[in-house]
Amino acid sequence: MQILLLNIKKLVQVEEKPVQWVAGQNMASLKCIDNAFLLMENGLIKDFGSMRDVPSFAGLPSDVLIYNVNGRMVFPSFCDSHTHLVYAGSREVEYIDKIKGLSYEEIARRGGGILNSAKLLSQTSEDELYEQALPRVKEIIRKGTGAVEIKSGYGLSTENELKMLRVIRRLSEATPLTIKATFLGAHAVPAEYKGRQAEYVDQIINEMIPQVAAEDLADYIDVFCDRGFFTVEDTERILMAGMKYGLRPKIHANELDYSGGIQVGVKYNALSVDHLEFTGDDEIQTLLGSETMPTLLPGAAFFLGMDNPPVRKMIDAGLPIALASDFNPGSSPSGDMKFIMSLGCIRLKMLPEEVINATTINGAYAMGLSETHGSICRGKVANIFITKPIPTLEYMPYAYTSDLVETVFLNGNITNVC
Ligand code: NIG
Ligand code: FE
Repeated sequence: MQILLLNIKKLVQVEEKPVQWVAGQNMASLKCIDNAFLLMENGLIKDFGSMRDVPSFAGLPSDVLIYNVNGRMVFPSFCDSHTHLVYAGSREVEYIDKIKGLSYEEIARRGGGILNSAKLLSQTSEDELYEQALPRVKEIIRKGTGAVEIKSGYGLSTENELKMLRVIRRLSEATPLTIKATFLGAHAVPAEYKGRQAEYVDQIINEMIPQVAAEDLADYIDVFCDRGFFTVEDTERILMAGMKYGLRPKIHANELDYSGGIQVGVKYNALSVDHLEFTGDDEIQTLLGSETMPTLLPGAAFFLGMDNPPVRKMIDAGLPIALASDFNPGSSPSGDMKFIMSLGCIRLKMLPEEVINATTINGAYAMGLSETHGSICRGKVANIFITKPIPTLEYMPYAYTSDLVETVFLNGNITNVC
């Protein structure tokens, strides 16, 4: 089945030759075609170009569907490479604590935070957890996300970590979203292991990782390598164990301190290191020349009122940057990638072109999908969205609460989510 979009005001992020990622000063350039067409076939992007070169109707199959998208722009779908969108209940109680002045770490020390979500999740069945997560998936599809990474990490026991990962698998089977799963048993030390952190790490290594691998439930492995959570030594042990089963690291690092997380991530060839509020010259040097995508989560820094990472310094040094939502109940209860683009511009001082690269092709790289997702490129998966009529490209991040995603295509099909 072919679908032809005609009279696209601007076709955004086109690639003649696919690249793995965009780095340094190249992040500010974005290839677009004005007054364009886009042809999709069997779920893939078949062709695109200027309306001057639109394929002749005689050459198209008789059942081709043609849409005149007059005045609207077409973007590749967002690639959100870091979320925790499978969780039980919600944590607005802590939101009030934060308003009253408690920090994220203080809330965690009092048994709130991740442990609060773990308790709720242990009381929730797999079916119920799935029913709670499904509307979040539908919501992000409506808002333009076409590929997402989802982590476990609110189970903190073998049984409940597996439960979360099975829910992630069910979501990927039941929805048209491309989903990558990450095992994050080392998200926090569960209450019953307080003071016995090394024993919990042993359980992750000896019990959880082998079972996750046996059921083939995860693509990647994550550790929250930060002050008050897991040490560099814990992280090394866990990453080595995961890598034996083919799980490439993608880790939480340097959100709360100069934790050594960036260095250990690069040492084990992590696909990405994420958060990075505490990034200095050493960390930038470590990242340069590596295959690790520095991934920033401005929604979490915004929600928690934290300092921002030194993005301009990182880009000027030649690094690529991905932006992700971190959708989770504690530090970023939103998966709205358009808002993440706006935060990238407003809070991180990134240019509109930079935030578009960061939320598409670089996000795709950060979950191992840059060969198939993240740009308008012949042969890539036809995951795109059509905007409402908008005056300029810059209007997308500028109009920061307007709902400007009008129509979503995933795998070349119009996606009606309700
Ligand atoms: O990425 N930093 C660690 N983990 C999550 C927060 C999880 C939570 O508070 O529930 C994050 O921000
Ligand atoms: Fe996170």
